Amino acid sequence: MEQQQMTKKMEVKGISKTFYNKNSYFTAIENVSFDVKDGEFLVILGPGRCGKTVLLNIIAGLEEKTEGAVIYNGKEISGVNPEVGMVFQKLALMPFKTVLQNVELGMKFRGVPKAERHEVARRYIDLVGLKGFENSYPTQLSGGMKQRVGIARAYANDPKVLIMDEPFGQLDAQTRYSMQNEILRIWEQEKRTVVFVTNNIEEACYLGDRIILLSDCPAKVKEIYNIEIPRPRNMVSKEFMDLRAKISDNTDLAI
Ligand SMILES: Nc1ncnc2c1ncn2[C@@H]1O[C@H](COP(=O)(O)OP(=O)(O)O)[C@@H](O)[C@H]1O
Ligand SMILES: [Mg+2]
Repeated sequence: MEQQQMTKKMEVKGISKTFYNKNSYFTAIENVSFDVKDGEFLVILGPGRCGKTVLLNIIAGLEEKTEGAVIYNGKEISGVNPEVGMVFQKLALMPFKTVLQNVELGMKFRGVPKAERHEVARRYIDLVGLKGFENSYPTQLSGGMKQRVGIARAYANDPKVLIMDEPFGQLDAQTRYSMQNEILRIWEQEKRTVVFVTNNIEEACYLGDRIILLSDCPAKVKEIYNIEIPRPRNMVSKEFMDLRAKISDNTDLAI
């Protein structure tokens, strides 16, 4: 009930994407529509190579759409939306820059003065639990720590909506569980809208206020689930397992 009263931050309306080559074409996304509510933790769940990254890039304005519209705060957006931040699947931290310098990079490009940059970067480095590693280089960090740097870097740019593209896909199971809890803690503290993409049903059920379930290629919205299970969620509780089974029965995912 509460969720239905939340205001719409974004509307993804009838998005389709077809890639045209010389002699052929390929439709990755077909008529995808859903809302993103202000402050919610929205999960997009779909199988590998179904078009999730293409869809996120369209939502962020990094990729052209073939059809449809992306509405942000009631207005149609074309081009890059500066209020949307991304944590990419492949993080691409700058190897010769320290954690602090990596987190500051976006602010530096925007001409934020040095003292302010430092202060904001340090705040987010603390928030993601990397205090003391400001001067470390990416090669000195574990996979989970690098992911934390990517999250701090995205938050430091002050996005109103944070999009995360399978951020934990490369992590071992133990690190993944702890990062799932971390991202919920940060979301609860920051109260910003999150759009989180995964191909993992359990992760989707653990994190989301809602799950947009996509079909295999071309990506279409198969179902939208409202998740009422209170947090922290217990992955072996009956209600959790029931939800997981329900979604599992409705997918082509091999999980
Ligand atoms: N620039 C492109 N040109 C042609 N096909 C593309 C392009 N980008 C992505 N695709 C295709 O679109 C499909 C979806 O890709 P992607 O969104 O990366 O999937 P995923 O769900 O794993 O993130 C894939 O089959 C991919 O090959
Ligand atoms: Mg992808």
